[in-house]
Amino acid sequence: MQREESQADRRHFIKVAGAVSALGALHAPRVFAQAGSDHVLQLALVGAGGRGTGAAVDALTNAGYPIKLVALADVFPHRLQESLTALKQNFEGKPELIDVPEERQFIGFDAYKQAMDALRPGDIVIFASPLAFRWVHYQYAIDKGLHVFMEKPVVADGPTGKKMLELAKKADEKNLKSAVGLMIRHCRGRQELHQRIQDGEIGDIVAARAYRMHGPVATCFSTAKPEGKDELEWQIERFHSFIWASGGLFSDFYVHQIDEVCWMKNAWPVKAQALGGRHFRGDFVDQNFDAYAVEYTFDDGAVFFFDGRTMIGCRNDMSSVVLGSNGSAIVSASGHHPGKVRTFSSFGPDRDKVKWAFPQPEESPYALEWKDFVKAIVLDEPYNEVPRGVEASLVTSMGRMAAHTGQEITYEQMLNCPHEMAPGVADFAQTKTAPILADKDGRYPVPNPGTERRREYAESTESA
Ligand SMILES: NC(=O)c1ccc[n+]([C@@H]2O[C@H](COP(=O)([O-])OP(=O)(O)OC[C@H]3O[C@@H](n4cnc5c(N)ncnc54)[C@H](O)[C@@H]3O)[C@@H](O)[C@H]2O)c1
Repeated sequence: MQREESQADRRHFIKVAGAVSALGALHAPRVFAQAGSDHVLQLALVGAGGRGTGAAVDALTNAGYPIKLVALADVFPHRLQESLTALKQNFEGKPELIDVPEERQFIGFDAYKQAMDALRPGDIVIFASPLAFRWVHYQYAIDKGLHVFMEKPVVADGPTGKKMLELAKKADEKNLKSAVGLMIRHCRGRQELHQRIQDGEIGDIVAARAYRMHGPVATCFSTAKPEGKDELEWQIERFHSFIWASGGLFSDFYVHQIDEVCWMKNAWPVKAQALGGRHFRGDFVDQNFDAYAVEYTFDDGAVFFFDGRTMIGCRNDMSSVVLGSNGSAIVSASGHHPGKVRTFSSFGPDRDKVKWAFPQPEESPYALEWKDFVKAIVLDEPYNEVPRGVEASLVTSMGRMAAHTGQEITYEQMLNCPHEMAPGVADFAQTKTAPILADKDGRYPVPNPGTERRREYAESTESA
């Protein structure tokens, strides 16, 4: 009986999606052993902010399988309500997709548990809180038998990286699927470009450059905490300002382009050296630099230069290029989407010598990452993006640490650096203790390249 239901379930998916390969249809959908043909995937969102709300919309729009949102969790009630209102507006014509009554709206540091308790094994949970909570939430999801979509980056430090790699193994053992929001990996243009590069279209990649330069955005710059405001809540609200919470603006903003270039190279860099500094500190009390320049080196000697800047009035650029021994390629023309990837027979991106260009318009990778993820769940295909998400996050941290310490940092040093930035993160519901504290002037510890060499900011001010 169960088998019949599973097959009906699978047929239903094929009908709905209309895009499943004949090979895929041969797979037995073990995860849906208990499901009937009216089976509906349930979704919970943990971290109901801007991206979380967007990810829920992407999931509900692109799953290609019956799905509905049944629970929301956030630490702040107003964020949850804003998200719920936006979701209801977005799906005004399909109110059945947003099934989140008051009893499934959860607030606080343990809200993630309650939201996941509202799901059944085989359902999906989205993690879109700041990065520091990823491993805590992932651990609980694995215990509950849930598939996970987690936003990037996934770790800021080595000890947490190791923890996440262990958790990823456990997810595999339980046949759970894990997606990471490095959506560019799902862009069809970039996928074809990757294949063309592997097939030798531009020769061996010898160098690469990527820029992300724009004004200050999100919460990457902070002035002093308002009097009376809770310290931990303040740091979480302004998470791009704090390295423990987000990996700083460096990890949060730059991981995409660092990942896409390394993907094209088919390797992770073995070391990084970097420059960085703060031109205008003024009243700002956060931990970020406003300009970074990193040189990553790969095992074969190829180099990858990454420049990041968050300053007003300067040239804006958000692009990635790889240079091969026999040509070059644009990986990102301007921003994440559309990629507008192209290959060139010349060394520079000279439009006259275009070899190949991905046809426009292209489908959004934010939609494609959900199509790929849910297809893997329904057809029970292996799917775990966490190991490469951890590696991408650690390679990004390596560049950040090189800039913040003024030292050359290898991948092994980054992975084995004992500085765990938020050791108390699993216990915030009880302790409410912020991982770092401000000094008497309200300023948080900042990197001091050359002075602090083994860790990115001074230990003495940490409370945990
Ligand atoms: N893939 C992308 O292109 C992309 C784009 C934007 C953001 N992101 C990622 O998404 C994540 C969130 O970014 P955002 O821009 O949506 O920030 P945001 O501040 O809009 O949303 C974060 C939400 O998480 C909530 N939160 C914080 N700690 C929590 C906890 N312990 N439990 C439950 N909820 C918690 C906050 O209250 C907030 O509502 C970040 O990791 C960011 O890097 C990815």
